[in-house]
Amino acid sequence: MISNRYFDLIDQTFYFPQEGFDIEDGNLVFNGVPLMYLIKKYGTPLKLTYLPKIGTQIKRARNLFTKAMKTSGYRGKYNYCYCTKSSHFSYVVKEVLKHDVEIETSSSFDIDLVRRLFEEEFIDKQTIIVNNGFKTREYAEKICSLINEGFENVVPVLDNKEELAFYEEMVKGQCNLGIRVATDEEPNFEFYTSRLGLRPSEIISFCKERIESNPKFNLTMLHFFVDTGIKDTIYYWGELKKAVKMYCELKRVCPSLTGLNIGGGMPIRNSLGSEFDYTYMVREIVNLILHACQEEEIPEPDIFTEFGKYTVGESGAIIYSVLGQKRQNDAEVWYMIDNSLITTIPDAWGIGERFILLPVNKWYNEFHRVNVGGISCDNSDYYNSEIHDTRVYLPVMGGKDKPDEPLYLGFFHTGAYQDSLSGYGGIKHCLIPSPKHILIYKDSKGNIVDKLYKEEQKPEDMLRILGYI
Ligand SMILES: Cc1ncc(COP(=O)(O)O)c(C=O)c1O
Repeated sequence: MISNRYFDLIDQTFYFPQEGFDIEDGNLVFNGVPLMYLIKKYGTPLKLTYLPKIGTQIKRARNLFTKAMKTSGYRGKYNYCYCTKSSHFSYVVKEVLKHDVEIETSSSFDIDLVRRLFEEEFIDKQTIIVNNGFKTREYAEKICSLINEGFENVVPVLDNKEELAFYEEMVKGQCNLGIRVATDEEPNFEFYTSRLGLRPSEIISFCKERIESNPKFNLTMLHFFVDTGIKDTIYYWGELKKAVKMYCELKRVCPSLTGLNIGGGMPIRNSLGSEFDYTYMVREIVNLILHACQEEEIPEPDIFTEFGKYTVGESGAIIYSVLGQKRQNDAEVWYMIDNSLITTIPDAWGIGERFILLPVNKWYNEFHRVNVGGISCDNSDYYNSEIHDTRVYLPVMGGKDKPDEPLYLGFFHTGAYQDSLSGYGGIKHCLIPSPKHILIYKDSKGNIVDKLYKEEQKPEDMLRILGYI
């Protein structure tokens, strides 16, 4: 018998049910949580965070790295740092810190967040705090005050040579340092070299002249990060090889160097058909570093990762109601949802990121091809393709069972970056504050007058939204 049920479409296309997704009475269950229960209790639109997933992810990555290190005879340690910018919310960061994790920061307000965590005893003065990003004076001052107050494992990572002057001036005793090496971008990108980090050709001479000769500094970490993520491609392996080669050269100049930070970029499932082989990738990363170091006769480094999206992405979901269906011509059907896709999953709009899109109910209805439209005025407020298909299929509305029940849709694995990019409640990407706002007008005499409308955002403004105050 030919079946046109949505359930059968999914069942025949993917392994289903699968980790985190199951069906009960024709309705979707996410990580064991029946979503219809939440919808009935709270209504839509709603976003949810399933906190237990965070620990599962951390444990899995840690197990994979430690196991790969053990089996290959790798003698360095593995450190899991959480990249706070992927989700700064207190409930996320505090959950992360239950799992013996270190911290990576990216801007000035992050240090205010670190201080709150310290005051509440979620971290102590031994926690490793890696400071990435382009340092403003304010960010550098806050980093230096942590160092001067005895936080032992703060590691400011130099993004450029000029940054060193901040630590020369403001650190009272000694301090650890890291250096970020700029990677080559993927061949199809607009730029050849990343704007983040130091030019590889300048690193050795800079370290000889300014760091190794200065008793104030201990270079402990080389940092590299491929922005397009960890992938089994010639490009990724090539960049990692170059980074390990740089590590070995640098280790000869600065024997204090012990850590290689490979940044973030561990992918998450953005389709029910995702086939990323975590075990294989981690094993290959560990083996590549080990063998390159053996060839150079350099002891293998401690490995640091800064997984953001991987830590928190799969814990998030956003659920909408379909308010109505519009057929605009013979081929194009729209499902209009009760929010904007631009503001709730901005990565889908801005960089074409895909998320897992599934109906919450009506899985036994027939399916058809639709476009999902937001209710903002913007013509780009839509979602109409998936990773595995250039089309989107969803159940028809109505149906035999509960025909009057609205159709509910969910985007899943949305837990990283979407809130800060969309400015949820007033937070910002990397916690970079809103600038001050000046109004300029003409007074009654026709003179131009300027007036401060709003001050620049303060750390407290954001920490309050994030649940720290
Ligand atoms: C320096 C650094 N580390 C870690 C990350 C986290 O990346 P992801 O969320 O892909 O793991 C980023 C993201 O931009 C980054 O810039």
